Amino acid sequence: MRKQIAAANWKMNLTFQQGEKLLDDILRADIRLKSHRHAVFAVPFPYLLMARSEVEEETNYYVAAQNCYHKKNGAFTGEVSAEMLHSLAIPYCIIGHSERREHFHETNAMLSEKLDLCLEHFITPIFCCGEPLPIREAGTQNQFVELQLKESLFHLSADQAKMVVIAYEPIWAIGTGKTATSAQAQEMHAFVRSILASQYGPEVAGEFSILYGGSVKANNATELFACPDVDGGLVGGASLVATDFIEIMKALK
Ligand code: PGA
Repeated sequence: MRKQIAAANWKMNLTFQQGEKLLDDILRADIRLKSHRHAVFAVPFPYLLMARSEVEEETNYYVAAQNCYHKKNGAFTGEVSAEMLHSLAIPYCIIGHSERREHFHETNAMLSEKLDLCLEHFITPIFCCGEPLPIREAGTQNQFVELQLKESLFHLSADQAKMVVIAYEPIWAIGTGKTATSAQAQEMHAFVRSILASQYGPEVAGEFSILYGGSVKANNATELFACPDVDGGLVGGASLVATDFIEIMKALK
């Protein structure tokens, strides 16, 4: 079975102490994850080591960075490289979140470099794609998402691409409380899998975990995750509340 992933994206929230307590509260629930299920915590850079040591003893609990820089190393004050993350044994990194594309002007070309650097350093990228509202209203979301994948991902070989986790996050659903319906999520996820199949063949496409993101909550996760092509979620707001994220972890297939 494909990996089913509940990924928490804390964004720029919580103090160190609050983050530590949140992880403690979640771990205290003692949710045992079978081998095809992963819980991933994308925490701010200064919390990575704390979070890593919190989850160290747990099976299938992992830590992620929320970003890395698109260059290998050098005079880029304030940035963090994939190599640095690897040196801290961080196994996952979110790449191309829509907030980074919007506020930090990250382009598909830059994201393609980030994917390369992550893979070179054995970090599983969680690659985000998804359309803004005007594109959805114009009905051209499929072409929009296809271009994001083509320009950032399709230079990879099948063996490399298989390492990437995709997160479909319609921008109009992020932080708005306006979740895509499970039918809308399934439709886009099936489309994403079909373009992966046209590039890499159906067998490889079937191995990709494709997460849904955008107002995933404790009360809608079960329905969303039940869709055949939805392999879990990338969760912002609801990942900041232990009881909510615990329910979302339990909703994994
Ligand atoms: P949200 O954020 O769950 O608060 O909508 C999701 C995300 O941005 O990854």
